Amino acid sequence: MTADTSQEEITLTVLQRMKAAQERFACLTCYDASFAAVLEEAGVEVLLVGDSLGMVVQGERTTLPVTVEEMIYHTRCVSRARRRALVLADMPFMSDMDPRQTLANAARLMKEGGAHMVKLEGGMVQLEAIRALGEHGIPVCAHLGLLPQSVHKLGGYQVQGREAGVAQRILDEAEAVVAAGADVLLLECVPSELAARVVAAATVPVIGIGAGPACDAQVLVIYDMLGITPGKRPRFVKDFLAGSGSVRAAVADYVKAVKQGEFPGPEHGFK
Ligand code: KIV
Repeated sequence: MTADTSQEEITLTVLQRMKAAQERFACLTCYDASFAAVLEEAGVEVLLVGDSLGMVVQGERTTLPVTVEEMIYHTRCVSRARRRALVLADMPFMSDMDPRQTLANAARLMKEGGAHMVKLEGGMVQLEAIRALGEHGIPVCAHLGLLPQSVHKLGGYQVQGREAGVAQRILDEAEAVVAAGADVLLLECVPSELAARVVAAATVPVIGIGAGPACDAQVLVIYDMLGITPGKRPRFVKDFLAGSGSVRAAVADYVKAVKQGEFPGPEHGFK
């Protein structure tokens, strides 16, 4: 059975239905109205206004300097061009220190930015906030695995969960955040085998980035998949612009490859 989502507005219910029907959905980061229109046209289901904008748009070395005001600004830019996709907005570094502050900032991302769902980084430390958001009708995506906002504590952007203890912690976190009310999980840079275990246990859709082929959906930073991010290309990124001829064709190829289970391949995952 497949869920026909070709014309339908993408809501959390649609994403849940797609997971149940084992139909993959495509997600890309998006920071402005022009790209939002291109992504919409290609059928991207989820537009992630990621705090990665601090690095790829603002030229910062990490995502840490990004502010709530900047997230609202970019979320609003994307929302204006959005037609049917779900707009997922990141809670930037230290905008979610306690449930009250998290609620206030998530409300601004929705009221002023037009977001439909917020994403926050962390497992056990976010349980109370996830519960509070759910109680106030705010859908939540819990970001686990490599947490870019913790880059200084982690000592770099490294794969998480290769050691048995860390792998078990990620499995426990996934279970706990879903029990607290997380509607979607995002798993970043974990071994493909560990991601497959999380997906098998999760009752909610799991979006992967550097998490192998088993996830229910995939996300990439748009500039990475267009091959314009400077520096060494990470293993989990594919340059869809090379050979496709245009940005529109590259995004359409990405959507098709994700939906047909061709991207990511095993070669894009970690052991
Ligand atoms: O900020 C972002 O773009 C993200 C992705 C890397 C998943 O969180």
